[in-house]
Amino acid sequence: MPDQTDIHIIYHSSDAPMSKWQEWLNRLDPRIRLVGLDDPAAQTAEVMITWSPPYGAIAALPHLKGVLSLAQGVDHLLDDPSLPRDITVGRLIDPFMSQSMAEWVMLAILKQHRDEAAYAEAATRKDWVCFEPRIPADYTVSVMGIGAIGGHVAEKVANLGFNVLGWSRTEKTISGVTSLTGTDGFAHCLRQADYVVSVLPLTDDTRDIYDAAAFQNMKSGAYFINCGRGLQVVEDDLIAALDQGHLSGACLDVFRTEPLPAEHPLWVHDKVTVWPHVSAQTSPITAAKQVIASIMAIRDGKPPVNPVDISRGY
Ligand code: GLV
Repeated sequence: MPDQTDIHIIYHSSDAPMSKWQEWLNRLDPRIRLVGLDDPAAQTAEVMITWSPPYGAIAALPHLKGVLSLAQGVDHLLDDPSLPRDITVGRLIDPFMSQSMAEWVMLAILKQHRDEAAYAEAATRKDWVCFEPRIPADYTVSVMGIGAIGGHVAEKVANLGFNVLGWSRTEKTISGVTSLTGTDGFAHCLRQADYVVSVLPLTDDTRDIYDAAAFQNMKSGAYFINCGRGLQVVEDDLIAALDQGHLSGACLDVFRTEPLPAEHPLWVHDKVTVWPHVSAQTSPITAAKQVIASIMAIRDGKPPVNPVDISRGY
C-alpha cells in the first residue's frame, strides 16, 4: 500500500523482472517503489532506471530529472533522438561486472592459447596428443577501450603474463599495460595483436570501427574478441576476413542485432564462438547500493555515482 513516504522510481527493462530490483533496492531503502512506464505514478517520478526504454518515453515524462542505465553502456539511451540533452544520465561501473567481463575475456583468450578445442576434439578420439606449450609473454593482446571497465580487463590479462597494449581516447596509466591513443595508436594496436579484444563504448566514433580495412590491418592469424557493442563490427567484413583465413577466429558476445537471428551465418561459422551478451550481466545484488546512491543524488540535483557525458557518448 503506497503512502506519502514512497519514492516512485520508473523501471523499464526487458532484462530482469521488476520484482528482483524491487527486492534488492528495498533491502537498502524501503521507501523505493518501482513503477512501470504506464503507471500513473510515473508522471510525477523524478528518476528512471532502465535498459533500452522505448524512444520518446523519457522525453514524455514531465518531472524526470535523470535516467540510470542498468548497464555499463548508455547507447540504448543516447540513441533516442528525443532524449532531452540536459537530462542527467548515469551508468553502472560495478566491480562485479568489470570482473565478470575480465573473466570472460580471459576465458576467450585462454581457450585459444591452451588449444582447448583441439584437446577436446582429440579426447573424442581417445587420442593422447600433446601440442607445443605457448609462453604468454610471446603473445600480444590489444585491449581496445581501457577506461573504467576495459582498464580492469587489460590489467587482469596483463597479470596472466601476456604483453598488453591498450587503446583509449586519452592516455591511461595501468600496471602492465602500454597505453596508446589516436588513429596511429589504433592501427598499431591492431597490427601488433595476436588477440584483439574490444571493450569500446558505442559512440559516433566507434560505430563500424571494425570494417574490412581494420580487419586487414590486423596481424595474419589474429583472434578477434568483442564484448563492446555489435554495431562496431561490420559483420560481413568479419566473416570475409575469417573465410580468407586472415583471422584465425572470433569470440563474440555482442551483435548488430540481438538476439542474433536464427538464420545469421555467425551462428554456424566454424571459426566463431557466439555468446548471448552475457560477458558482464547486471546483478541487482551487487549494483543496488550504487543505484540507490545515484537515485538520491539525482533527486537532490546532484550527479549520479557514475555520470555520463552525453556529448562524449559514455
Ligand atoms: C552490457 O551490455 C552493458 O552495457 O553493461
